[in-house]
Amino acid sequence: MYNFDELIDRRNTNCVKYDALDIYFGKEDLQPLWVADMDFKTPDVINKAILNRANHGIYGYAKPSLKTYKLIQKWMKNRHNWDIQTNWISFANGVVPSYSAAIEAYSNEGDEIIVQTPVYFPLFKCVKKNNRKLITNPLIEKNGYYTMDLEDLKSKISKKTKILTLCSPHNPVGRVWSKKELEELANICIENNIVIISDEIHADLVFKKFTPLASISKEISNITLTLNSAGKTFNIAGLNCSYAISENNELLEKFNDICIKREINSINIFGFTALEAAYESGEPWLDELLIYLKSNIKLVEDYLKENSSKISFYPPEATYLLWLSFKNYDISHTKVNKKLLNESKIALNNGKSFGSEGNNYFRLNCALQKEKLELALSKLVTYF
Ligand SMILES: Cc1ncc(COP(=O)(O)O)c(C=O)c1O
Repeated sequence: MYNFDELIDRRNTNCVKYDALDIYFGKEDLQPLWVADMDFKTPDVINKAILNRANHGIYGYAKPSLKTYKLIQKWMKNRHNWDIQTNWISFANGVVPSYSAAIEAYSNEGDEIIVQTPVYFPLFKCVKKNNRKLITNPLIEKNGYYTMDLEDLKSKISKKTKILTLCSPHNPVGRVWSKKELEELANICIENNIVIISDEIHADLVFKKFTPLASISKEISNITLTLNSAGKTFNIAGLNCSYAISENNELLEKFNDICIKREINSINIFGFTALEAAYESGEPWLDELLIYLKSNIKLVEDYLKENSSKISFYPPEATYLLWLSFKNYDISHTKVNKKLLNESKIALNNGKSFGSEGNNYFRLNCALQKEKLELALSKLVTYF
C-alpha cells in the first residue's frame, strides 16, 4: 500500500545525512548510509497534518494539548502494553537534550554514571560534558550477538554511582532486551539506589516483542525515567519533539526543573502536530515500514553471503542499523575506513565512535530504497 521504493532526492534540503558529508567525512562523493534517519517520506497523514497546520499561518509558541498526552498514553498501551498516566509525561526538544538534563537532575559533578558500550555516542559524551565520571560496562559479544555483563556491572558500582544509562532497544547492536535481562539489571539498580535513564527511542522499530523497562513492575518504574519520541519511528527527528515518562513524581519534577533551567522545554509547533498525527493515524504505515525494513536486513544478509564477503553481522532484533564486523580482514580499522571512503565510496558510521569496543566495526543504516541499498552493497563487496 505504501511505496517505500520511491526514490527521493534529499540533497540540498539542509539534511545532515546528505549535505554534511564534507564536514564529517572530508569529501562529498559518498553514498550516505550513516545518520539514523530514513530515506523514506513520512506518512501522508503526517505531511497533511503539517500542511494543514501551516495553512493556519500563525506559528507562535506551542504547548501540548490534553490530546497529545492521551495519544501517547494510548500508543504505549496499544503498541507496548504499558499502562501510563498522562501526568507521568513531560515534553522536551529531543531525547539527547533530555538525557543530558536528566544527568544534571539525578547526579552531581564528579558522580559516576554507568553506560553499556558500544553505544550511541551522545549517551557517553553527555556524561563527560556534564563533568560526571563515565564508567563503562561493556556488553559481551559472542558470534555477533550481544548480552549484558551483570557481574562486571556489579563490580563497577560504587557509592558515587548515581545513574545507569540503558539503551533499549540498543543502538548499535540491535538487541531488544528480554524482560528477564531487564529485570535482573533493574534489580541491581534498585539494590544500589541507582536511577535508570532508559532511552527507548527505537522501541517501535522492533522485530520481536519489546518490553518498556518501567512496565515490568512498580519498583522498577519508581527508579526509571524513560525517554522516547516519534522521531525515529516516523522519520520526523528534525522536528525536535520528545517526551519523558516517569511514574515517580519526584524524578519527573527534578527532570522538569532542569529542562526549564536549560530552556529545552519549548517545542517546535510542528513537532506536536506530527506527533499527534503519527500516534493517531500512523500505525498502518509503521506496520508496513517494519516489513520493508526486515526485507532490507535480509537483503544485506543474503548479499554478503552470496558474494562470500568476510563482512558479518547479527541480524538486529530492532532498528535499521547494522553493526558490521570487519574482524575477518587482516587490515587495521583505519585501513578499512580508508577503503570504505576512497574505494567503496560509502559513508558508514565509524564503529570506534560508539566506544573502543567498536574497533573493526562500522554501522550501516539500511533504511533506504532497495535500489540504492543494492548499489551500496555492490560498491562495498567490490573492495572487500
Ligand atoms: C539511541 C538514540 N537515542 C537518541 C537519539 C536522538 O534522539 P533526539 O534526536 O530526539 O535527540 C538517537 C538517534 O540516533 C538514538 O539512536
